[in-house]
Amino acid sequence: MTLFGIVEICIASPVLFSNVFAMRVVQTVSAMQRQARVWQTLHVPVAFVPTMGSLHEGHLSLVARARQEIGREGRVAVSIYVNPAQFGPHEDLAAYPRNFSRDKKLCAQAGVDVLFAPSDREMYPAGFSTYVAEERLSQGMEGAARPTHFRGVTTVLAKLFHIVQPSVAVFGAKDFQQAAVVQKMVQDLNFPLKIVVSPIVREPGGLALSSRNKYLTPSQHRQAAILRRALERAREAVVGASVPAASLREELRALIASQPESRLDYIEFFDPQTLAPVHQAKRGTQIALAVFIGKTRLIDNAPL
Ligand code: PAJ
Repeated sequence: MTLFGIVEICIASPVLFSNVFAMRVVQTVSAMQRQARVWQTLHVPVAFVPTMGSLHEGHLSLVARARQEIGREGRVAVSIYVNPAQFGPHEDLAAYPRNFSRDKKLCAQAGVDVLFAPSDREMYPAGFSTYVAEERLSQGMEGAARPTHFRGVTTVLAKLFHIVQPSVAVFGAKDFQQAAVVQKMVQDLNFPLKIVVSPIVREPGGLALSSRNKYLTPSQHRQAAILRRALERAREAVVGASVPAASLREELRALIASQPESRLDYIEFFDPQTLAPVHQAKRGTQIALAVFIGKTRLIDNAPL
């Protein structure tokens, strides 16, 4: 802890010295804004990892990346907020896994400096009526399957970026389209912010870590490995070749259907920069898919 760090916490915290070496938990927008102003005054750069909690190694890899980006002298802020605006009316908002005391411990162990965990009333007070929407990259795939989802994501992130004032924000490649939409919002709306995209963390069996994996029964968990197998199959299919996306999609659809509780939502082959669908899949094409296993909707993606 530098002298600046100590001064900073003494200014920002109402209780002098009580948390000089501890992670600070902030629950109101105004307290977080005060902390951000102190950081700015002291020229302390901030790396930010927004999450919805129920943290796993995927989230923690983003925290490690944030620290790497910002260095020892910088600050790492994590937010935990299950954002109602990005859930559709028939989605799992109420059931979404929440475990704040465990998440708090994991963040402290991971070296997070400030954990921002606002309530719904703080983020969406009565009468809230302003939304931010990206209108191109957000249209296909997750946007087509979940029409109001990205509007909720961009709205909450615009708010969080204003409140936390980071110079770097770290996102997972697990949500490839989300990262692209956020990057576009940051560019279009001139947020003074670098977006970093960090690789997908997977279980040894290949299933991408996700808070929603908790919903799976042991049998469904085994069946969920089909997502990764489909990505691998697509990769094999384009080795030294360019193949029609439509026929590769049909082959993968059949592969996924081999699992009794699976139901394909979509498979898309697209350009990783523009997210525009391609007719021919080849090396460098991005594939993304969404599959229901039982009632649980899982997504995954990979470059071919
Ligand atoms: P959440 O699903 O909690 O994810 C938070 C971040 O963790 C996202 O950037 C996501 O891509 C990343 N992540 C999730 N699983 C990962 C894995 N297996 N490997 C690497 N990174 C992974 O995404 C959201 O929350 C929300 O939409 C949010 C951005 C917080 C806005 O509400």
